[in-house]
Amino acid sequence: MTTWDQDALISPPIRPIGGPSEHPTVNPIANQSIRLGIMASGSGSNFEAIVQAIHSGQLNAEVPILIYNNPTATVVERAKRLGIPSICLDHRQFATRELLDQAIVEVLLSYQVDWVVMAGWMRIVTPVLIHAFPNRVLNIHPSLLPSFKGSKAIEQAFESGVKITGCTVHHVVTEVDSGDIVMQAAVPVLTNDTLETLQARLQIQEHKIYPVAIAIAVGQRISEN
Ligand code: GRF
Repeated sequence: MTTWDQDALISPPIRPIGGPSEHPTVNPIANQSIRLGIMASGSGSNFEAIVQAIHSGQLNAEVPILIYNNPTATVVERAKRLGIPSICLDHRQFATRELLDQAIVEVLLSYQVDWVVMAGWMRIVTPVLIHAFPNRVLNIHPSLLPSFKGSKAIEQAFESGVKITGCTVHHVVTEVDSGDIVMQAAVPVLTNDTLETLQARLQIQEHKIYPVAIAIAVGQRISEN
């Protein structure tokens, strides 16, 4: 049977400190803790992966606030279980994207957030948010950018017939899914894949790279050998 070396397909490659480990490891020495404001719209599995990485010492950070925009988003259940404060800012209550983003910025500033992490935030953000945290807003997108930007990226890749897709953590700029790439993981599209099986394997890689990508972006020291 052919084996698939997932780690070889993560870039930049990260090796654990102190021997083999299932997860890449960030060196906590000399790393200053950063305050992450996380924004999510749905299930929140990436939100939870980031919080678990903090709990395990992989990432030196705190999450003082989760913002979600959909009152029925199940991410709020994860936040309660993990003890993370959360606020719902329902986009339907705001006349424009800019007014929603202004409310988001006010919450983030009130919680003294250093970096903003969009983890399945299904709204287009505006310069109001981006300029309030210059070069300090990250997003994860379920494709190997610059391929398959925008919504339904997994469907786009699946229908295009590509044999390898993946996920990307990138800086957020005003043009959608176009900021500098921090980290990517490649995922094969298997012949018997369905959208669901492909998405499940993509999410495993998302959960692996997002905490490491945050550490890289904020300048925390990581092992590279
Ligand atoms: C992820 O696949 C992410 O790439 C996309 O939205 C999804 C969010 O999933 N932007 P979850 O809510 O973190 O489980």
